[in-house]
Amino acid sequence: MPADDRTPGVIDAIRTRSSKRAFLPTPVSREQVEAILQLAGLAPSGSNIQPWQVYVVSGTARDRLCDEVIQSASGDRSGHGREYDYYPNPWREPYLGRRRACGWGLYSLLGIVKGDREAGLRQELRNFTFFDAPVGLFFYIDRDLKQGSWLDYGMFIQTVMLAARGFGLHTCPQAAWADFHSIVTPLVGAPAEQMLVCGMALGYADPDAPVNAFRPERLPVTDFSRFQGFD
Ligand SMILES: Cc1cc2nc3c(=O)[nH]c(=O)nc-3n(C[C@H](O)[C@H](O)[C@H](O)COP(=O)(O)O)c2cc1C
Repeated sequence: MPADDRTPGVIDAIRTRSSKRAFLPTPVSREQVEAILQLAGLAPSGSNIQPWQVYVVSGTARDRLCDEVIQSASGDRSGHGREYDYYPNPWREPYLGRRRACGWGLYSLLGIVKGDREAGLRQELRNFTFFDAPVGLFFYIDRDLKQGSWLDYGMFIQTVMLAARGFGLHTCPQAAWADFHSIVTPLVGAPAEQMLVCGMALGYADPDAPVNAFRPERLPVTDFSRFQGFD
């Protein structure tokens, strides 16, 4: 661990990054966000095409957007949904088991018991306040770009999250926002040719919030890697 958690080196940035779901109201400046995005722009992309388009909201723009999406998410959701498949359909093992373990791990930290749909919905709606983070990012991609560009995009988004650690900031990537692209897109001013990939909360994590201690388990390297030629 670094002596000072605010300025981690790269390995510490990787280790200390985790999705935070409770943020302090401490403001984050435009300069900080620009510096993070400048670093993230150094991410690699096939033929250096840099397929990312980022819309950043704070202050009243953020508040208005949150209010509108919460209103829709609290009511009838027919007509909403993301424009791309994120998950397998139908779910299958081993992914289903991992997904369940993640969900129940989070809920148990939050004191949400199985079957308490209202509490589950309340927690889901917290996505749409960016978990109280002062800054929200929306990642858009030109819809005619291909799978390779989505690969590039993942690298960009991870670089945003690691760069944020360099400023003592934390993040939560949020696919939840993509379900409400029809509300988000006109509010951020993205053109119709662009598709919302996901949102992200950016801010200072609340160190006292129990939910921020959530660290879902990872597989050991030997479960997902095969080595050859090493003696
Ligand atoms: C693209 C992407 C979308 C995600 N969407 C959400 C989301 O909508 N809400 C949420 O609470 N967490 C979301 N997560 C966070 C994952 O649950 C989290 O990354 C995973 O459980 C591993 O935990 P860690 O990020 O703390 O290491 C998302 C993560 C990724 C990479």
